[in-house]
Amino acid sequence: MKYLIKNGTLVSSQECRHEDILIEGEKILCTGPDLEVADAEVIDASGKYIFPGFIDTHTHFDLDAGDFHTADDFYTGTKAAIAGGTTTVLDFTTQDKGQTLKEALDVWHGMADGKSSCDYGFHMSITDWNEKSRAEIPEMTRLGVTSYKLYMAYDNLRVNDGEILEILSEVEKEHGIIGVHCENGDLITALVSRLKADGENRISMHPASRPPEVEAEAIHRLLSIAKLAGAPVNVVHLSTAAGLEEVRRARAAGQTVFAETCPQYLLLDDSEYERPGFDGAAYVLSPPLRKRSDIEALWEAVCNGEIDMIGTDHCSFNMKGQKERGLSDFTLIPNGIPGVEHRPVLFYHFGVASGRTDVNMMCRLLSERPARLFGMYPRKGAILAGSDADLVIWDPDRRWIITAEDQLQNADNTPYEGFSVTGRASQVFLRGQRIVNEGEILAECQGQYIKRKERGI
Ligand code: URP
Ligand code: ZN
Ligand code: ZN
Repeated sequence: MKYLIKNGTLVSSQECRHEDILIEGEKILCTGPDLEVADAEVIDASGKYIFPGFIDTHTHFDLDAGDFHTADDFYTGTKAAIAGGTTTVLDFTTQDKGQTLKEALDVWHGMADGKSSCDYGFHMSITDWNEKSRAEIPEMTRLGVTSYKLYMAYDNLRVNDGEILEILSEVEKEHGIIGVHCENGDLITALVSRLKADGENRISMHPASRPPEVEAEAIHRLLSIAKLAGAPVNVVHLSTAAGLEEVRRARAAGQTVFAETCPQYLLLDDSEYERPGFDGAAYVLSPPLRKRSDIEALWEAVCNGEIDMIGTDHCSFNMKGQKERGLSDFTLIPNGIPGVEHRPVLFYHFGVASGRTDVNMMCRLLSERPARLFGMYPRKGAILAGSDADLVIWDPDRRWIITAEDQLQNADNTPYEGFSVTGRASQVFLRGQRIVNEGEILAECQGQYIKRKERGI
């Protein structure tokens, strides 16, 4: 099948070009002005932007969170993703204690293969570091897993500082990249105990149990360890101005530090936890929502190019039957929020249409930089001859309202309920196949596993 997309504005991180795109099979054959091809279906993209497919660097589909399973699995989560313009997700494979990395990877392939509507890759969360895990790192590279996540919080998942040093050094031999959940787990345990001793069980105590110092201290410690290891590192879901200052300090001293933030940390503040009744539970995630001053600091960093990626940390739970478990104790509320469907429009509306930044920055943060860092560029993240024809034809004028009722995400809530936004993925192509047309999914489960290469920056 050949498609000729005409009259659109092609977006890269550097420029906008008024060129046509010829797609043949799964690839972009060429781009150029005024292309004419007799046997191609012509799509008129006048007045539209064309982005390389968006990449969500941070999703948790099909995740077991103790008693509960996330509301979205790969089937529902990736349909929601592609409807919004995200053509590749990087999900977190989590190693159980006693499991090999390969066994964990096989479990995630079992959940994703054949059920995904966008392309996908896996970061590996190492929770059980031992000689066996160490020996598996080169095998992970061969299997296309070149990025990892380590937790400094959550007792069942976290690794200690010495292990972080070891893992950073080992992964650096493969030119991979490690993302770290930076919260000091011991401090959280102590603060939760204090709150409970004082009889404080309200949802509004969630941010008090994980204040900015908890993140900033962990980032500081991580960056000290990364310096000792001589390895770059990726701070995931950065949420505070204090944490950002730690990143800036290490960069100024010559360290390579990547940073991801999420729409929730750019748009929502901790007043959400004061909502009446149990409504604030919808916003319980970790790290928690912060103050307006943190939001402004993160936006400034986004606009300055100090942030590398916007991922969602999509980890959806229903209010009914799941979040409501914490009705009388906020520590029992499963942590996480949905977001994979709405990240592009949220960035477009609040970042681009608001005038804060531009479509080139949107391309950089949502597509190009993730593709480079995570070993997929220029197959993904670019509109170039030979790249996968993952394309988003973006209507900058479409106005609509985000609601849980209308979303494809399989959750009974969205933290962006009632947000009135401008911009929408009008058509989405995945490796040359038109998958989305004006919100309608034309073909399901067409996603493939992407074997990734070593980090490209
Ligand atoms: O609350 C969150 N973010 N849950 C997902 C797991 C994580 O920490 O990334
Ligand atoms: Zn995390
Ligand atoms: Zn996460």
